[in-house]
Amino acid sequence: MKANDGISMVLEPGKIYALVGENGAGKSTLMKILSGYQPPTGGEILLDGRPVEFHSPADALAKGVGMLYQDPLDMPPFRVIDNYLLGRDSRVRLNYKDARTELENLAQRYNFHIDPNATIDSLSMGERQQLELVRLLAGGAQVLILDEPTTGISAEQKEILFESMRKMTREEGKTVILVSHKLEEVQELCLYAYVLRRGRLEGEQELPCLNEALVEMMFGQVPQRTRRPAFAVGEPVLELQDVSIESYQLNIPNINLSVRAGEIFGFAGLEGSGQRQVMQVCSGLLSPTGGRVRLNGEDVTGWSFHRRQRDGMGYVPAGRLEEGLVAGLTLTEHLVLARPDKKFFVDWKANQVEMGERISTYQIVGRPETTADALSGGNQQRLLFSLLNTPLKLLLLEHPTRGLDVRSADYTWQLLYKRREHGTAILFISADLDEIIEHSDRIAVFSGGVMSRVLDTQSTTAEELGHLIGGQA
Ligand SMILES: Nc1ncnc2c1ncn2[C@@H]1O[C@H](COP(=O)(O)OP(=O)(O)OP(=O)(O)O)[C@@H](O)[C@H]1O
Ligand SMILES: [Mg+2]
Repeated sequence: MKANDGISMVLEPGKIYALVGENGAGKSTLMKILSGYQPPTGGEILLDGRPVEFHSPADALAKGVGMLYQDPLDMPPFRVIDNYLLGRDSRVRLNYKDARTELENLAQRYNFHIDPNATIDSLSMGERQQLELVRLLAGGAQVLILDEPTTGISAEQKEILFESMRKMTREEGKTVILVSHKLEEVQELCLYAYVLRRGRLEGEQELPCLNEALVEMMFGQVPQRTRRPAFAVGEPVLELQDVSIESYQLNIPNINLSVRAGEIFGFAGLEGSGQRQVMQVCSGLLSPTGGRVRLNGEDVTGWSFHRRQRDGMGYVPAGRLEEGLVAGLTLTEHLVLARPDKKFFVDWKANQVEMGERISTYQIVGRPETTADALSGGNQQRLLFSLLNTPLKLLLLEHPTRGLDVRSADYTWQLLYKRREHGTAILFISADLDEIIEHSDRIAVFSGGVMSRVLDTQSTTAEELGHLIGGQA
């Protein structure tokens, strides 16, 4: 099978291009070839009219092409400044003072906020990304490739990123390629779109245009959006009573909440406003400093994550390859690990067959023996969903459709609606307000560790939510 097949693109200086296409279309593969991460099996790359070959990402960067990967590749225990110096010309003696000045100047030019002495693991996704961008720019990148850069960063960081992309192209004559599933962003930023489908270039389009035109090229048709079916919710499944959480970043006082059987409950708010910690208390990954957590009336406050999982809780974390999946393990091995009934002898044959069925239900582009890291980003997300057991009492989701193309995001929600028929209570976090409004029965908004009153989605507007997210009552 070919991940990329006979694709030709022309990129001019001073412009932002979009590269779009369904999950597994070959976008990341193409961009990795363009940035020296892997070699093409055919074809050539011309830079300023001259053919070039890239032998590594560092080589590509030296020749002017830098890429921000979909999954961050930096080294967590390193300091910012050390990470920044990674991959730079080793013949030049490392001079921390000059490097620091250079880092600070570049950061300032693009309005990035980076502390050179911080360690990488203390940075947010958005800050790590800013650091990586600065490293690429300092390395001489004239062509910058950004692979789904807005998944996992805050709204404010997104604005700063977009502004920096405009500056790089309009003022500095660089070329930027944006890979994204968020068509609104693509329309807002880019002048021209290349559309990939099943490894081939399906079309090209000047922007802005109607979203439908792009969607039709991506999928071959405009997918039908399904509306949320009405559902009568049942008894409380998850209850939080006077829960408080204290951590060095944030104090979250007095959370009271109940999520009922068959109900879909959405947490909105800027990243870092407390919603993630509350979700972790629900899952057993974090202990509250006060209050009780109940599952179907039973006090589970002291229960571990695994005990809650055995008792019918499912959890889809935000970091796919960091918290959810193990890069080198196959899909079948993931299934064996995810089963709540750990047996001494594993029936590999049966698990292989079962994984095959889940692959087709969840439309994963891959095979039972594929390793998780060989799946495209969106297919890794589908894998996480396929590993959930049925039925579940409670399902906790962080950014459930992050990295999914519009068609599979819709399909994922259809599968979630089906779970309500088993009485599953669903609690989810999303950075996407439209997703929250479209799919929640009720909503709570977090701001600075404080949870708003619980809102009924029917009688709440996006505007009201926006005010609450900004911290206005
Ligand atoms: N290292 C690899 N080995 C084998 N197959 C791979 C490898 N990397 C990617 N593929 C396959 O190539 C296809 C294209 O993957 P790619 O990651 O380029 O898709 P994508 O367009 O970026 O998708 P997404 O939107 O989900 O990120 C997928 O079917 C994927 O499974
Ligand atoms: Mg990708």
